[in-house]
Amino acid sequence: MVTNYVKNGTDTMRRIAVCLSKGGVGKTTTAINLAHGLAIAGSTVLLIDTDTQGQVASALGVEPEAGLAELLTQRADIEETIAPVRERLWLLAGGRSLAGAKREIDRRTFGGELALTEALEPIEGKYDFVVLDTAPSLDILSVNVLFYAKEILTPVSPEVLTLQGVLEFQHSLNGVQKYHKELQLKYVLPTFYDLRVKKSHEILDQLKVHYDDLLCQPIKYSVKLSESPGYGQTIFEYGPNSPGAEGYKILTQRVMKDGK
Ligand SMILES: Nc1ncnc2c1ncn2[C@@H]1O[C@H](COP(=O)(O)OP(=O)(O)O)[C@@H](O)[C@H]1O
Ligand SMILES: [Mg+2]
Repeated sequence: MVTNYVKNGTDTMRRIAVCLSKGGVGKTTTAINLAHGLAIAGSTVLLIDTDTQGQVASALGVEPEAGLAELLTQRADIEETIAPVRERLWLLAGGRSLAGAKREIDRRTFGGELALTEALEPIEGKYDFVVLDTAPSLDILSVNVLFYAKEILTPVSPEVLTLQGVLEFQHSLNGVQKYHKELQLKYVLPTFYDLRVKKSHEILDQLKVHYDDLLCQPIKYSVKLSESPGYGQTIFEYGPNSPGAEGYKILTQRVMKDGK
């Protein structure tokens, strides 16, 4: 639990949000597998699900009694809301109860965008990484995530998204950066990458032009990735030798290297 985690790194805790205001681009898949990849590689990681769909807990095969909603509404102490889910990996679960928490935040007269930052103050510096999964919409909780996070990882799926969509999202990021200067778009991750599909090539070429250094090695389209949540397992458990596991391992290594 919260009392027995040990932070390994010497730097400050890294706060990485996986976001983009579109659904079905691989945000949840990326948040889960990056978080587990980092934990396997030896870091301590807190994974936070800020989506009312609450898919992260079931994808990890757990049913925590409390989570982010109880933390935000102060119905439970932080220790009770953080569940150990794997070695070195902890979860602050999302789910439907977040709808009520969002209404409470909306009713605040000021400081609503900092509710998450305030609620997470007690864990500052206690993990090497905090990885946040977000909802497809730019709701109040996603705005809270942007005010808390320092690094943004944006998955880009050629099926769902055009370059225009990423550029629009970057525009909303710029709006938040005026108030939260430490926030940066750090990684652009092509997902559902399929060499046989022309669109995959096209979007990759466009992303190279616009994002160059931020662009990560694509995650291939992989059936194992889509099956693993149904078994409550990450890709490192369900398909350790699959292209999906390879892709997320490469992403993990890249993220870790940046902290050195
Ligand atoms: N690289 C991939 N190849 C095949 N299926 C994937 C891949 N990434 C994600 N999926 C599947 O696609 C669906 C949408 O992914 P998800 O991560 O939930 O997206 P988001 O969180 O952006 O809505 C899920 O069923 C997931 O298991
Ligand atoms: Mg999702």
